[in-house]
Amino acid sequence: MTAKSTPEMASFRRRLTAWFRRQGRDLPWRRTRDPYRVLVSEVMLQQTQVSRVLEFYPRFLARYPTMEHLARAGKRQVREAWEGLGYYRRIVNLHRLARQVMREQDGSLQPDAVALRQLPGVGRYTAGALMTFAFERPHPAVDTNVARVLRRYFYPRARRTGARLDERLWATAQALQPRNGRTAWSFNQAIMELGALICTARVARCEVCPVRRGCQTGRPR
Ligand code: ADE
Repeated sequence: MTAKSTPEMASFRRRLTAWFRRQGRDLPWRRTRDPYRVLVSEVMLQQTQVSRVLEFYPRFLARYPTMEHLARAGKRQVREAWEGLGYYRRIVNLHRLARQVMREQDGSLQPDAVALRQLPGVGRYTAGALMTFAFERPHPAVDTNVARVLRRYFYPRARRTGARLDERLWATAQALQPRNGRTAWSFNQAIMELGALICTARVARCEVCPVRRGCQTGRPR
């Protein structure tokens, strides 16, 4: 399904990006474009809270600063380095990915979403996150935070889950992408940040939301 870009979308994009430039958190994985470092952050953030990842991320990268370091490490050490993060399937896949990428791609990841998705543990979201956060390409990356923001803003009457809604949300996120890659990086970080800080699952803080004006859910009452 495709969704067309509309003036409404342009305003959403502008306000959100401007808000992020003022209010977005300075997080270590936002200071790098190294695909390996971005990947490590995304894998950690999949099932672990930001506050916890902030503790583990620098430690893990000090131990395994590059794809090559990770690929060379033994299974046991790698698992040990992941201790405290849990969901060990993630590190098993990341380790396999590192070995495969060293073997087949000289240790470097390429900006190709379809190819990225062939890698162990890399699904649609992680491939999208690498495209935008590492390679600065205008590419959607819809995680649960982003999905919630889009659903509330654009489809308040839609059912909360389902493959059809997912497709609509990805198509909407695609249509929202700024053409410029660096602006797309900011926009994609911004929508994620809104979901994390303002448009949260439990209480939406609509009174301080930068896009409440156009929102179908958080209308001023
Ligand atoms: N969760 C997943 N990716 C993230 C990012 N880049 N910033 C904050 N939270 C995230």
